[in-house]
Amino acid sequence: MMSGYIRYHGLLLPPVAHTMKSLEFAQNFAVQDSDVFAVTYPKSGTIWMQEILPLVLNGGDLTPIHTIPNWDRVPWLEESRLASVVDQLVSPRALVSHFPYNLMPPSFSTSKAKVIYVMRNPKDLVVSSYYFHQMAEFLEDPGTFDEFVDKFLEGRVLFGKWTDHMKSWMNAELGDRIMYITYEDMLQDLPAAVRRISNFLGRNHSEEVIQKIAEHCSFKAMKTNTMSNFSLVPKIYMDNDKSHFFRKGIAGDWKNHFNSEQLARFTSVIQKELEGESFSLPWNMD
Ligand code: A3P
Repeated sequence: MMSGYIRYHGLLLPPVAHTMKSLEFAQNFAVQDSDVFAVTYPKSGTIWMQEILPLVLNGGDLTPIHTIPNWDRVPWLEESRLASVVDQLVSPRALVSHFPYNLMPPSFSTSKAKVIYVMRNPKDLVVSSYYFHQMAEFLEDPGTFDEFVDKFLEGRVLFGKWTDHMKSWMNAELGDRIMYITYEDMLQDLPAAVRRISNFLGRNHSEEVIQKIAEHCSFKAMKTNTMSNFSLVPKIYMDNDKSHFFRKGIAGDWKNHFNSEQLARFTSVIQKELEGESFSLPWNMD
């Protein structure tokens, strides 16, 4: 277990990847009109987008996904790595971020950069996060599942409260610069999801290219891609004996983890926090 988190605008962040310098770099980042951001609350499909985006942007050339580790291929806006790889990114650049909308750099607002906001049923992402905390040695011990659910609901986890993240991006009013997609949509019909992303980014790829991209972005393909499955990361940071990053890749695993009391508590807190919002959740929360 490594040192505790740093706090940035009320958000907890692991110092192994985030420093005041990297956060300042993100704030001063000069966003280009052609940039594409995939924004997620952690465990909603970030690494999946790091595989899909380069392929959609380059017409299905597998070179980047087979030669560049995901964190350098589509870097995190807020992480320290960005400064060392930014000059190697070719336009149109793809980045990921876990930032809520209000922490995006000022140059993002004035640009025409596009955003794909990927969201996942919070019950499944809390389960995914629970296992991730067990294997990621740079994160705090999650405690029991019950304790972790409480931490999650109170926002005492990475990048704060899920509901705050959702509210910030669902109300972002970015017009045709933003596309919303769920992890579950991607699971249910990956070619359809890739087609939507391709059209959103003005690529309109042929069916053949769409199918090829979907094939290389399946759970199975990504789990064995050493450039994406975190096997390059030393065990002191990620311990695959405890859990795999590519754990299950399914929807509904929450049913194997929540008891009825936890479910009632979870649903009531989430519903209360989203009361009066103009958007509704794309999942049935009961
Ligand atoms: P599970 O822990 O439920 O398996 P993130 O990249 O935001 O950290 O999210 C990680 C979650 O996305 C993990 O969920 C991981 O297995 C899942 N995931 C990554 N790539 C996937 C794919 N191609 N298909 C389905 N799930 C995928």
